[in-house]
Amino acid sequence: MSIPVIAIDGPSASGKGTVAALAARALGFHYLDSGAIYRVTAFAAQRAGVDLTDEPGLARLAAGLDLRFDGVEVYLDGQPVGDVIRTEEAGRAASRIAALPELRAALLERQRAFRQAPGLVTDGRDMGSVVFPDARLKIFLTASVEERAQRRYKQLIEKGLGANLAALLQDLRERDERDAARAAAPLQQGADARLLETTSLTIDQAVAQVLAWFREAGDPA
Ligand code: DC
Repeated sequence: MSIPVIAIDGPSASGKGTVAALAARALGFHYLDSGAIYRVTAFAAQRAGVDLTDEPGLARLAAGLDLRFDGVEVYLDGQPVGDVIRTEEAGRAASRIAALPELRAALLERQRAFRQAPGLVTDGRDMGSVVFPDARLKIFLTASVEERAQRRYKQLIEKGLGANLAALLQDLRERDERDAARAAAPLQQGADARLLETTSLTIDQAVAQVLAWFREAGDPA
C-alpha cells in the first residue's frame, strides 16, 4: 500500500506551511516545505554566481545540491542556512527560478524522496498536481491577499526582520500573478483539491479541518 501524502498547495503567506507542519506533527508524519527547496536553490545559485535566468545552469546546480532538512532548518553543504532564505527578496528569487521547467524537473525526484513511512504532509504550489498526483488528500489553502500580507508582516516582525505592510501587499500581488501566470505548474486549485479558505479561521481551526478531511479520506486499502 502506498505511503499516504497530504498535499497542501496555495499562495504565498497563506499560512499553509504552519498548517502543514502542525498537521504533520499531529499525525506523526514527515513534513516537507517545498518552497524552501526553491528558496535555497536560488540562494545557492546567487552564491555560486549562476544567473537566475540561466535555466540549464540552474538545473545542473539543483541536481547537485547537498541539501538536508532538520525540522524547519535547511542545511546546504552541511551548514545551516538560517533566515536568509526567508526574506522577501529570497522569496522573489525563488519565484523567478520556479518559473523554469528544467529547474522544476531537476527538483522533482528530490521532493518525492520525502515520501517516507508513516506518511508525509507537504506544502507548495504543485504538490497535488505534479509532485504527488496520487496524494490521498489534496487541499488548496488560501486567504485574502490583505490577510496574507498581515500574516507575513507579523511573521517577519516576530523574526526580527524588517517589514513594510504596503510593500508586502504589493509584493504578494506580484508574486501571486507570477506564480499563477507561469506555464510550468502554475498556482491553481486542482479539480480534485478541496478548498480551505482561512481568512477568518484560526490556525487551530485550519489544522482541525485538514485532520478531519484526512480521516474522511480514509484508508483506501
Ligand atoms: O511557499 P514559498 O513562499 O516559500 O515559495 C517560494 C517560491 O517558490 C514561490 O513564490 C513559488 C515557488 N514554489 C513553487 O513554484 N513550487 C512549489 N512547490 C513551492 C514553491
